[in-house]
Amino acid sequence: MAEPIRTFVILDAGVNRDDVERALPGTGEVEIVGIVEGIDEAWVRLHETSNDLLVLAVQGQSELALQLIDRAVRERPRRPVVVLGYGSPDGFTRRVFAAGADDMILLPAAPDEVMFAFQKALARKAGGVESATFSRAPLICVLGPKGGTGKTLTATSLSVALAELGKSVVLIDLDLQFGDVGLCMGVAPEKTIFDLVRTGGSLDEEKVNGFLLTHSSGVKLLLAPARPDQAAVVSVDFLRELYATLRLMVDFVIVDTPPGFTPEVIATIDSASAICMIGMLDALSLKNTKLGLETLELMGFPRENIKLILNRAGSRVGISEAEVVAIMGREPDILIPSDRDIPRSVNEGMPILLARPQSEASQAFRKLASQFVQVDELPSPHTVRASRTNLWRRIGLRV
Ligand SMILES: Nc1ncnc2c1ncn2[C@@H]1O[C@H](COP(=O)(O)OP(=O)(O)OP(=O)(O)O)[C@@H](O)[C@H]1O
Ligand SMILES: [Mg+2]
Repeated sequence: MAEPIRTFVILDAGVNRDDVERALPGTGEVEIVGIVEGIDEAWVRLHETSNDLLVLAVQGQSELALQLIDRAVRERPRRPVVVLGYGSPDGFTRRVFAAGADDMILLPAAPDEVMFAFQKALARKAGGVESATFSRAPLICVLGPKGGTGKTLTATSLSVALAELGKSVVLIDLDLQFGDVGLCMGVAPEKTIFDLVRTGGSLDEEKVNGFLLTHSSGVKLLLAPARPDQAAVVSVDFLRELYATLRLMVDFVIVDTPPGFTPEVIATIDSASAICMIGMLDALSLKNTKLGLETLELMGFPRENIKLILNRAGSRVGISEAEVVAIMGREPDILIPSDRDIPRSVNEGMPILLARPQSEASQAFRKLASQFVQVDELPSPHTVRASRTNLWRRIGLRV
């Protein structure tokens, strides 16, 4: 006889424990290794047991539950997560799957039905399939601790390079006050993220599509608000829902960010599967880039999912590559040379890959894009992100 499935059960606030216990298959089929009320408590207890499968019972639209699913899937991508719920508030089912759950069953449910869902989810994971109906596109966050290091250049160029490889790409301008993605790509801000937020209610594919602008390269853009005072309407919760929706719509989601670790940037890092950290070849920028990398480490972001990009790398500024490695503790993944055609292409509103396709800089961005496409499904973070929780708390946000 097969071993029972070691199942860890989490009850979100408001869930009736009896309803869940009645739905669980009998001993022999499953072994309940833990049944814990409350998400925070459960996250700690989860790591004190050996388990094959995670059951999360939710009531209503629980942000905490979604975050737990996301974390659990990142931490152990091959362990199935099955959600039990009482009904599906608008858009919630989509977000449950977007967070990485394998199945969602409505309560009350028969133990047979639940057992079938467990077996299906385990079989799928054993076969290396991420999710039955949905797979999540990589979300790449372009970061740089200081202004003017080349974040927007990288975000726009990487997007165009991925589109050249036949991928569908959405580029989001998260520099909410002073975004210039539209300017760099020569696209007028007819609609922006501000207009999308103002529609209110939950997001779905059709609604988000209505606010994307299409660049001639095929890259779709969600532009920053037209005026700095409009930035405040974009909340962290809105961004999480936006990312979950977009990741089911396209092959890649790229996010250009403002300098520094604002709450919006931290929320984006938290959702990201990879980061491009942009530094420049001068002592001050290298120091800040190193600080940025250390902050990501503090947040528990896996080092192997961070690409280090050194911009203006050809400049003769008295810092050797060996010194860069000594300061950063790692080799840069990509070097972008200084090139007079870059500011020229920005002024013309034409991405460098289109304005000077053969330039060294364009080739470097193509190399960066190919690194993401080769891996296609980017590796998931393995580390328990306990210290990330602390960081959230320190900046006063709920996890
Ligand atoms: N490798 C390069 N060679 C020449 N010019 C460059 C290079 N990289 C960036 N620039 C120029 O530097 C300026 C800043 O670049 P970019 O806008 O990409 O930086 P950023 O990090 O997005 O800045 P901000 O923090 O203000 O958003 C632009 O005018 C761009 O044309
Ligand atoms: Mg920028």
